[in-house]
Amino acid sequence: MTVKLAIVYYSATGTVRGMAERLAAAGEQAGAEVRLRQVQRQPTGGEKAATDEQTAEAEAAKGAPDATADDVVWADAVLFGSPTRYGNVAGQLKVFIDSLGAQWAQGLLADKVYAGFTSSQTAHGGQETTLTALYNTIYHFGGIIVPPGYTAALKFVDGNPYGVSHVTGADNDIPLGQAELDALDHLATRVVSVAGRLRGE
Ligand SMILES: Cc1cc2nc3c(=O)[nH]c(=O)nc-3n(C[C@H](O)[C@H](O)[C@H](O)COP(=O)(O)O)c2cc1C
Repeated sequence: MTVKLAIVYYSATGTVRGMAERLAAAGEQAGAEVRLRQVQRQPTGGEKAATDEQTAEAEAAKGAPDATADDVVWADAVLFGSPTRYGNVAGQLKVFIDSLGAQWAQGLLADKVYAGFTSSQTAHGGQETTLTALYNTIYHFGGIIVPPGYTAALKFVDGNPYGVSHVTGADNDIPLGQAELDALDHLATRVVSVAGRLRGE
């Protein structure tokens, strides 16, 4: 049976959305059935620091359909994406994750493959802490974290064994480079492969 891959992201200014779209294409290329979903926008105090409300609305309109709990329950593998916010997962994604309590209580989030991706303005601005903070939740799910590690030569180029990350720079405008694109392709292929093997395929 085809591996089901859910990619659930939050993005205020489009970077994480671009990463999610690349993962979705790579997941399909790896043979998965893919659901690309964004979490519904939740206003936070920090929002205005990144963009004004009109720009935020425009960004949301460019994105994927809204994520539901069923998208996570449905999946064999889930990739969560969030901008780095104060070295942590954005509140918007956390609100969605916190809405999954009923599914967690029924054990419906366990035994799936999970990994994460993020972007930040600065190179040492907390990408790794964001990913490991995200993974704290996955322990509680009973999920199976499948980090990329250094499982391919290209991981020594992007250099993040915890997931995939991108630095957008002081003006928040540096596009994804080949190192990040390769790392995204690798992560999607790897989680689809591991999820398939867990299903005995
Ligand atoms: C409230 C807030 C907190 C942020 N915290 C950090 C941070 O801790 N480290 C960092 O490097 N960038 C930080 N940023 C910048 C974002 O992580 C960065 O712009 C990211 O690439 C945006 O992703 P997006 O385009 O998908 O929204 C922050 C931005 C906002 C609005």
